[in-house]
Amino acid sequence: MAAARVPQEAKSEAEALRREIDEHRYSYYVLAQPRVPDAEFDRLFLRLEQLEEQFPELITPDSPTQRIGPAPEGDFAEVQHAVPMLSLGNAFADEDVQAFHERIQTRLEGAGVEFDSVEYVAEPKLDGAAISIRYHDGQLVQASTRGDGSRGEDVTHNVRTIESIPLRLRGADVPEVLEVRGEVFMPVAGFAEFNRQAEAAGSKTFVNPRNAAAGSLRQLDPKLTAARPLDAFIYGVGEASEGVLPDTQASRLEFLAALGLRTSPDWQLVAGFQGCLAYYANIGSRRSELPYEIDGVVYKLNRVDWQDVVGTVSRAPRWAVAHKFPAQEELTQVSAIEFQVGRTGAITPVARLEPVFVGGVTVSNVTLHNLGEVHRKDVRVGDTVVVRRAGDVIPEIVSVVAERRPKGTSVVKMPVKCPVCDSDTVQPEGEAIARCSGQLVCEAQLKEALRHFASRSAMDIEGLGSKIVDQLVSERIVTNPSELYDLTGEQLRDLDRMGEKSADKLIQAIERSKQTTFARFLYALGIRGVGAATAATLAASFRTLDEFMQADDTELQTVEDVGPIIASQIRTFVQEPHNLRVIEKLIEHGISWSAPDQPMKDEQPLSGKRVVVTGTLSGMSREEIKEKLQALGAKVTSSVSSNTDFVIVGENPGSKLAKAEALGVVIVSEDQIHSLF
Ligand code: IVH
Repeated sequence: MAAARVPQEAKSEAEALRREIDEHRYSYYVLAQPRVPDAEFDRLFLRLEQLEEQFPELITPDSPTQRIGPAPEGDFAEVQHAVPMLSLGNAFADEDVQAFHERIQTRLEGAGVEFDSVEYVAEPKLDGAAISIRYHDGQLVQASTRGDGSRGEDVTHNVRTIESIPLRLRGADVPEVLEVRGEVFMPVAGFAEFNRQAEAAGSKTFVNPRNAAAGSLRQLDPKLTAARPLDAFIYGVGEASEGVLPDTQASRLEFLAALGLRTSPDWQLVAGFQGCLAYYANIGSRRSELPYEIDGVVYKLNRVDWQDVVGTVSRAPRWAVAHKFPAQEELTQVSAIEFQVGRTGAITPVARLEPVFVGGVTVSNVTLHNLGEVHRKDVRVGDTVVVRRAGDVIPEIVSVVAERRPKGTSVVKMPVKCPVCDSDTVQPEGEAIARCSGQLVCEAQLKEALRHFASRSAMDIEGLGSKIVDQLVSERIVTNPSELYDLTGEQLRDLDRMGEKSADKLIQAIERSKQTTFARFLYALGIRGVGAATAATLAASFRTLDEFMQADDTELQTVEDVGPIIASQIRTFVQEPHNLRVIEKLIEHGISWSAPDQPMKDEQPLSGKRVVVTGTLSGMSREEIKEKLQALGAKVTSSVSSNTDFVIVGENPGSKLAKAEALGVVIVSEDQIHSLF
């Protein structure tokens, strides 16, 4: 009937379009080798949609336009798996893998199987959601979750939306029945982008790609699932028509790939447990670069007839094992939330945790950065939290397990007094960080300041470690950095874990540190915002400590990297009487540095002179005169201070002349300066 009404050309065109679109989909999503621009793909798709709209009889279930169908009525239907979906035993240590291999050898020997070497297929263990997909005569008919292994949920409507999963198998020789097993996952990039958008829209974000994949499969509305960047790898077979399956895992993976299914590009055939371990090490080293998250690898005995010999025990095969990476996420409890005070007085909330092994290390403290973060995550004492330590990244609290919150917890508040010195805390408006106002009265800040002062890029006092600093401060032997230079061998010898020899060595190191560089000295002062690089540019721009200390905001800002904020932090620091006393004392103790080498400029007539030009010059432009002065070694600055050596005055000078006069700075006329050029 339908054939009579639909013109043959339309029918052929629709078929051709479907084939072509599916070819492009296959290249793009399964092989990850795009062949046509998106625009061309869209054009073909649009044409097919038009045809199908005009002649609805042309629509087939495997048409690319039919990926998103209606939502199931009611809840997800239950699916009984034809072949159970097994789980895997775990191996954590190398020895566990060796034991797995030896158990297999013993069983094979026991069954009278002769062998030279035992081969395994090693595959990445994807961190997503397990899926079973049934094809009848090559057509996708059903997809289900693992559930309890015997019964899962029907998620066909959602799985159909995943572009890397074919709605129809490829090739002439498709099995009558084929149920494949694999893992649906959200690639790392898609996950990050999805969360970024969700955050921007103020909607719920996913904690990790695994939850994202599992959550997406459990949507009732397939439109929502279709909007998620899901992918899938197929790694095995459930039910299959008699005689269609090859007899090794490796050839089965190739068989699945030939049917147009997406298999992992990273599996490998390896020999013995040594081969397994080498694969594990290799993929482990590439883990952070993989586009998908894996939580380990899976080794599967390659020969299927041997798999049958070795057998299955309580829902897990003996012929396969999951070799897990150390977990990157674990649950633990928050035993306390404390506040730490840093060198600059920054007060940082830190969660103390019940120690937990995660990402290969035991974690018992996690910084929470600032109170805003504590409140955003709503972390409270007593909470069960997800702790993550991915790769070599510092550990963090990902989220709180809300259901496990005990009764009577309270929201964390910023202490009004510094937990160390009891000074008031202050939180400048617009800043995330609260600070202790106690500066060097605060032991915590003093300890940090001393550690920084002695550090390698600063005064480089070898042997002045954290433990010693702690004692020196706690016992009030040292109350500011300059007092390090008053220390005696006897005082040091009295400290814990300090022998005569190391005390003498430390005294020598302190003595040696007196000969330093200007840059190190500036860095050692620990001025907020002045890191080692900025200290070096400051040291190169100011000839002496005095010049640096006298520099006003404008002069400071002529230095590269110094903007208004750092300039003001420097000014605040050098104007603080306590700091001035410490700097004075340090210099009195004989801290010194040789003047920077300036051989060229030293021979020039204006070497090191600070010059300001004001008013209109008649003979040359201001730019010109500036260049000429600089060529003679002068430093041309824009404002007058007591450090200015002379001011060149042209026509109509402004306030700079008045300031120069007030400060008693030498005033030079334009004519006088010409004689120099
Ligand atoms: S094979 C008979 N291979 O890990 C073997 N499983 O506990 C059954 N998984 O939820 C599984 N990647 O979904 C196998 N390459 C892989 C896998 C893999 C991830 C998941 C699987 C299941 C769990 C096994």
